[in-house]
Amino acid sequence: MFVESIQLNNYRNYDSADVTFSPGVNIFYGNNAQGKTNLLEAVYLSGTSRSHRSSKDKELIRFGTEEAHIRLFFRKQELSHRLDFHLKLKKPKGIAIDGIPIKKTSELLGMLPIVFFSPEDLSMIKNGPSMRRKFLDMEMSQLDRTYLQYLTNYNHLLGERNNLLKQIAVFPQLRETLDGWDEQLIMTGEKIIEKRGTFIGQIDEMMREIHGKLTGQQEDMKVRYENNVSAEEFREALFQRRDRDIRTGTTSVGPHRDDMEFLINEVDIRRFGSQGQQRTAALALKLSEIRLIEQISGDKPILLLDDVLSELDSRRQNYLLENISDIQTMISCTGLDDFVNTRMHLDKVFYVEQGAVREYTL
Ligand SMILES: Nc1ncnc2c1ncn2[C@@H]1O[C@H](COP(=O)(O)OP(=O)(O)OP(=O)(O)O)[C@@H](O)[C@H]1O
Ligand SMILES: [Mg+2]
Repeated sequence: MFVESIQLNNYRNYDSADVTFSPGVNIFYGNNAQGKTNLLEAVYLSGTSRSHRSSKDKELIRFGTEEAHIRLFFRKQELSHRLDFHLKLKKPKGIAIDGIPIKKTSELLGMLPIVFFSPEDLSMIKNGPSMRRKFLDMEMSQLDRTYLQYLTNYNHLLGERNNLLKQIAVFPQLRETLDGWDEQLIMTGEKIIEKRGTFIGQIDEMMREIHGKLTGQQEDMKVRYENNVSAEEFREALFQRRDRDIRTGTTSVGPHRDDMEFLINEVDIRRFGSQGQQRTAALALKLSEIRLIEQISGDKPILLLDDVLSELDSRRQNYLLENISDIQTMISCTGLDDFVNTRMHLDKVFYVEQGAVREYTL
């Protein structure tokens, strides 16, 4: 599958733009602050319904204007599809698939699987757990709509529970009402824990293979689910910590505190890995994500590489580029040197300047 074209209107720094992609490797190069990331962001949003950097639609609308439009054509199993997004300043966005408006954004997920890789992703192993949870949630939501439903419910219930905990501290008679919320929280929480366990098991297998190749089988890589609590023990743990939760006004146990553990030769590289080990593992994780999406959904995802090549040494660059030759890729960069060095085959090169995208003949 591949994205055929995208049209932007009043999106970020674009007044209007129309870009026709190659199904292979597309390069967007240009100076800083010209609109490269904005363009990749619009593609990402088309697949996931949101930006990778902002949760607020209004930030995506060109300053001084009221609404933005994105139209994207993509091809999947020989058929062409159209996605339309209408972003408004004060109202929720409208989305249509092949001209038919959808009611829930979740209907979009999985239509156009996308993997976004940015320099921040290279710090995923070294940074705190919230980024790894976000990774899990975004990837799993693209692959499994019921996961997204459980997650949305869980987050909602968690918010309600935390509010209630704070109220109970003042009005102890409300304590009884906690049972009902906890029951629902446990039910959805258990599902999330189970699904994450399965998914991380699949990532582990895929990553072991990719990481082995990346490091010449020098290191033994493992990914483990570091759940805050197991599905079986969630009920008991939540109950035991109730008094403490009331005192602090927060829920101290549950999958909202989960993490993933990355081990090389049994050493936890989140804390003890070298910078290089952490980055290599992050690269392997991203590549695993691509292959897993392919395996589970049967579609090859679109890969967006935002400024990430210059962050990798030539050995890792080459490995990455060799391993993505079968999927559509959109790469942003400030210069073309890296490609000359890696002798990579480029299908289309675009020059981005002040919100204008021009095809550059090689
Ligand atoms: N809502 C908006 N309206 C107008 N301009 C915006 C909006 N949001 C962001 N911009 C501007 O878009 C410009 C281009 O941003 P973008 O992140 O795409 O740059 P880039 O080409 O990726 O640069 P770099 O190489 O530094 O990453 C920035 O100058 C930014 O201020
Ligand atoms: Mg950028």
